Amino acid sequence: MASTKTPMHVTVTGAAGQIGYALLFRIASGQLLGPDQPVVLRLLEIEPAMAALEGVVMELEDCAFPLLAGIETTSDLKVAFEGTSWALLVGSVPRKAGMERKDLLTVNGGIFGPQGEAIAAHAASDVRVLVVGNPCNTNCLIARSHAKDVPDDRWFAMTRLDQNRAETQLAKRAGVPVTEVAQMAIWGNHSSTQFPDFENATIGGRPVPEVIADEAWLRGEFITTVQQRGAEIIKARGASSAASAANAVIDSVRSILEPTPAGDCVSLSVVSHGEYGVPEGLVFGYPIRSDGSRCQVVEGLPHSPFAQEKIQATTAELLEERAAIADLLA
Ligand code: NAD
Ligand code: LMR
Repeated sequence: MASTKTPMHVTVTGAAGQIGYALLFRIASGQLLGPDQPVVLRLLEIEPAMAALEGVVMELEDCAFPLLAGIETTSDLKVAFEGTSWALLVGSVPRKAGMERKDLLTVNGGIFGPQGEAIAAHAASDVRVLVVGNPCNTNCLIARSHAKDVPDDRWFAMTRLDQNRAETQLAKRAGVPVTEVAQMAIWGNHSSTQFPDFENATIGGRPVPEVIADEAWLRGEFITTVQQRGAEIIKARGASSAASAANAVIDSVRSILEPTPAGDCVSLSVVSHGEYGVPEGLVFGYPIRSDGSRCQVVEGLPHSPFAQEKIQATTAELLEERAAIADLLA
């Protein structure tokens, strides 16, 4: 039976790109907002990619998704964000081999101010924004600064892919299913300075360092593998991660909309209010718990001197990024 719910509008920018191709079909099939929630896709692209986008639209139509209530394609920001409840900001240039994500700041930073303004002016009053385009934390900071009327708790940048990567590395090392790993928080920037906090994570309910009694591996190879995973994928594929990134978008949104299970947390970058001494206003990767409508930073987690040093390093990098794009902030 067809759903009687009012369709929700979901904007995806860069919709003709790699991540778009892996993401749109999952949204249209109900994996983002649920199996009885109709969606209208609002797809933003730049003019040169409109023809390719039309091809993607033909494919979406050819799936005859029962929940897909409409598709709008546009290169106009106003049309893209009109009445939208979820703004998934993917569109931007990915890095190439040998680059750090922050090398994209000058290339991509300029995209996000106008998008922030358009979200503030045209989106639905319940809009939530997830920034995926890199460097996603600082791009989110830029967009938010241009949308002061959209409350702080609506802004997210994506550190979920890092969480998923870290969980799999721990599960493989411990020889357990990935479902045994919990509380796997990514602190700071979605970059090679991020800190995957194995100290507070658990496997089968026990602290990770107790289950994997190899401190050298945890402090060394584990962290480096997670930090460098994006670069390794670019080296191997010749293109940056796409299906796993799209999967992390779905996971991120689901984890905001669903209550976090007891004894767990999810990794999302949110606007800092000074938690754990992080300067206010930075878009910072934290352990988060959702009650299904509100997300909150998990407070009171202990950090060893090693962890504190890592968190300081990633904080310093985000401050440097903010200084580098000061002219793009409203
Ligand atoms: P892609 O090049 O395949 O697609 C990007 C699309 O964005 C292109 O179709 C392009 O035309 C479009 N675009 C460019 N400027 C635009 C603008 N101003 N408005 C709207 N659309 C625009 O890239 P991709 O592989 O899909 O990756 C997209 C971004 O996501 C990159 O910045 C990449 O680094 C980032 N990414 C982030 C994560 C994460 O975990 N946060 C993971 C993977 C990729
Ligand atoms: C990733 O983590 O795979 C993405 O951010 C792409 C990249 O540049 O690493």
